[in-house]
Amino acid sequence: MPRINVTRSSMPPIGEYFAEVAPLWESRWITNAGERHRELEAALEKRLGVADVCLFVNGHSALECAIEALELGSDGRDEVVTTPFTFASTTHAIVRKGLKPVFADVRESDLTIDPDLLERAITPRTCAILPVHVYGNLCDVGAIREVADRHGLKVIYDAAHAFGVERWDPAAGKWEGVATYGDASMLSFHATKVFNTIEGGAVCFGDPALRGALERWRNFGIVDPESVECVGGNAKMDEFRAAMGLCNLRHFDEEVAKRKDVAERYWSNLEGIAGAAALRPGEGVRPNYAYMPVLFDAEAFGSTRDEVFAVLAAEGFVARKYFYPLVSDYACYRDSYSSESTPIAKCAAERVLCLPMYADLALGDVDEVCRVIRGCAR
Ligand SMILES: Cc1ncc(COP(=O)(O)O)c(C=O)c1O
Repeated sequence: MPRINVTRSSMPPIGEYFAEVAPLWESRWITNAGERHRELEAALEKRLGVADVCLFVNGHSALECAIEALELGSDGRDEVVTTPFTFASTTHAIVRKGLKPVFADVRESDLTIDPDLLERAITPRTCAILPVHVYGNLCDVGAIREVADRHGLKVIYDAAHAFGVERWDPAAGKWEGVATYGDASMLSFHATKVFNTIEGGAVCFGDPALRGALERWRNFGIVDPESVECVGGNAKMDEFRAAMGLCNLRHFDEEVAKRKDVAERYWSNLEGIAGAAALRPGEGVRPNYAYMPVLFDAEAFGSTRDEVFAVLAAEGFVARKYFYPLVSDYACYRDSYSSESTPIAKCAAERVLCLPMYADLALGDVDEVCRVIRGCAR
C-alpha cells in the first residue's frame, strides 16, 4: 500500500448518504429515471448554468451517445478532428461509433487542441471537432467555434476533467460554465473526478431536440413501451449513484477550496526549480484543480520524468504519467497514425507527471512530495 496515492475519492459523510438512499427501501424504484435521478439532473443544470443535462452510467457512454444523438457520420462525412493528448475514451468513442479520428496537435501553453492547426486537419470528410479540456484547462472555445461554423462542423467537448470550471466573459460581464460550450459537452463523474457519482457522466446541451435522442440512445432506443426507434444500449444511471451525486454536489465548493490550497502549496514549492514546470490554469478562469501536472525537461532539471516517477514511488508517493503513451502510440492505433505528426503532444506525453492531488491531501505531504522532487533536481 503506497503512503500517498495519486488521488482519493471524495465521499460525503456516511449519514448523509444513508439519509439520501433510505427512502429507496420504501419506494423500491432504484433505477430507470427515479426521483434522485431527476433531482440530480435539475441540480446540475442549475449548478453548471446549462440548459439541459442528461445523466449516464459513465462519461464514456455519455460521449458515445452524444455522437449518436448528433448523428455524426449520417451524411457520409466520417472524420472527427481531435487531440491525441487525452485518455483512451475520447478516441475510442469516435472509433467505436464508426468514425475516423484525425489528430491535430496541442498548444504548449495548456495542452489543449491548437485552433491554428484545425484548418489543416479539416477535409471535405470532416463532420465534427472533438476537443478535450484536458486537466480542466479550457480550450480556446471562441476560436474553435469560429472554425467549426466556417466549415459547418459540430463541436462536442470532452469536458471529463472540467466539472465546475468557469470562464469570465467580459462582453457579457459574467462567469460562463464550461459545459455550455459546443453542441454538447460530456462530463465524467468517475470516482477519481473532482465531482463523482462513483461511476457516472453526463451530456450537457442547449438544443432541446437532443434530449429525446439522448434518452433513446441511453435506454435501448425505447421511446415508449411499444416503440423502439434505434439500436441503443443500456447507459442509464441508477438511484444509488444519483444519490451519491446529490450528496457530493453539496460539498463541491468545499472540495474545490481545499484543492486550491493543495495546488497553491505545490506551486509555491515548485517555483524556481529549473526544468520542472507546473501547468497552471489560464487567466480569467475559475479552475477546479482536478490534477497537478508537472512537465520535466530532463536536460534543465537533471532527471527524466521516469526517474522522478520511480524515486517518488520508492518513497511511497504514487504519481501518474497522464497522458502517456499518446493515444496515437497505442497498439490499436499506431499502425494507422504517427505520433511524430503531433510533436508538442508527443513531447508533453514524454515529460508529464501528475502528482498526488485530492482535497484531503495534507499540506505536509505536498511538502514531502516536493522535497523528493527537489532531490531529483540537478
Ligand atoms: C479525457 C477523458 N475522457 C473521457 C473519460 C471517460 O470517462 P468515464 O471514466 O466516466 O467513462 C475520461 C475518464 O477518466 C477522461 O479522462
